[in-house]
Amino acid sequence: MDRIAVRGGTPLKGEIAISGAKNACLTLMPAALLTDEPLTLTNTPRLADIKTMSELLESLGCEVAPLQDRRVLAIGTERISNHTAHYDIVRKMRASILVLGPMLAREGEAIVSLPGGCAIGARPVDLHLKAMEALGAVLELEDGYVHASAPNGLTGAVVDLPFASVGATENALMAATLAKGESVIRNAAREPEIVDLANCLIAMGAKIEGAGSSEIRIQGVPRLHGATHRVIADRIEAGTYMIAAAITNGDIVLTGVTRDLVGAFADKLEEAGVLVEDVEHGVRVRRAGEHLKPVHIETEPFPGFPTDLQAQMMALLTLAEGDSEIEEKIFENRFMHVPELSRMGAHIEVHGGAAMIHGPAHLTGAPVMATDLRASVSLVLAGLAAEGETIVNRVYHLDRGYERVEEKLSACGANIRRLSE
Ligand code: UD1
Repeated sequence: MDRIAVRGGTPLKGEIAISGAKNACLTLMPAALLTDEPLTLTNTPRLADIKTMSELLESLGCEVAPLQDRRVLAIGTERISNHTAHYDIVRKMRASILVLGPMLAREGEAIVSLPGGCAIGARPVDLHLKAMEALGAVLELEDGYVHASAPNGLTGAVVDLPFASVGATENALMAATLAKGESVIRNAAREPEIVDLANCLIAMGAKIEGAGSSEIRIQGVPRLHGATHRVIADRIEAGTYMIAAAITNGDIVLTGVTRDLVGAFADKLEEAGVLVEDVEHGVRVRRAGEHLKPVHIETEPFPGFPTDLQAQMMALLTLAEGDSEIEEKIFENRFMHVPELSRMGAHIEVHGGAAMIHGPAHLTGAPVMATDLRASVSLVLAGLAAEGETIVNRVYHLDRGYERVEEKLSACGANIRRLSE
């Protein structure tokens, strides 16, 4: 298994090009199931999760052609030849549940393995299932699989989400595009990735209003057609490299993004003493003064502070002059990076869903291990600021969501390398 070795202490300087958003791509790809014409996605990130979604789509009968060095994916679904998303693939990646809505809408049947728990909590899919039921599907659970059927097609309805779940909003939105009549998704998630999905569906002929607000209205159409769509930039990747600039007291321009894309996160970085400025081709990030300030953070659905940047922000706050607090409100058990950061010299106490970070710490390199994607990159960030060498084990987590992390960071002067085994 590959590891990453980081030797800290170099202020990072230069430019980093931000890739297409993993989370947008993972919902745009299943949207291809809604039509028998090709869907071409450009600006696709080259990540392990995208490969897993390709495998899942291929298992259902799609043809997925990676073009231009995997920067473009052409997905053709002339016929869905198999209605079952098997456990072997679904267990690898929870986003697999996103084939449920489109397959059910087009075929009137979908059999999808339940994903089960994962390292950051129970993560049930009850809201996805309730949304499908609201649209007229009949569901049965058998042997760990959900069998969803709607032999006469789905019917437009009000889908009232008790929590603004990103995935459940995406599944409901895709399913409703082919349902008969009007659907309204209430308390919809407002993430930019949902807007990106809606824009792609509109390009495919769907009738959607209100994406990006908490009420999305969809007029069902009998069929969708092919389209070409550019995946939006990855705001989580951008936020991660913003922290790389701040944690090393460096100066980085992230190209292909704007400050708006990372809204609440940029506000918190500024509160912590980091400048985040729009420049000609992107966003420039550097510290405002020598010291970082402590801040209070609560993770929230968009437009609040994203849970996917919580671990990285914690790494930064270990260096702030004073006590910071982070409350994790989206996922239970998303503090697995804490014991590892502590092994590097951080002073952090966790009480339930809140972590108190006592700064400033003097970070020192150590062998560390991560249990999820964002936790592992937070250890790379801490390693960039630590004295000595940090070895991050289980790099496959990083490869799920960060494209060539060691190349992007070393181009800005980081002493980082991959140790392949
Ligand atoms: C998506 C992102 C993930 C991000 C998360 C929150 C993708 C592929 N992944 O995940 O990176 O961290 O949004 O911004 O886009 N919940 C239920 N029942 C459900 C669905 C969710 O209880 O049916 C709970 C979850 O356990 C969690 C919370 O709702 O506590 C948020 O989950 P959700 O917004 O659905 O996140 P995902 O779509 O899984």
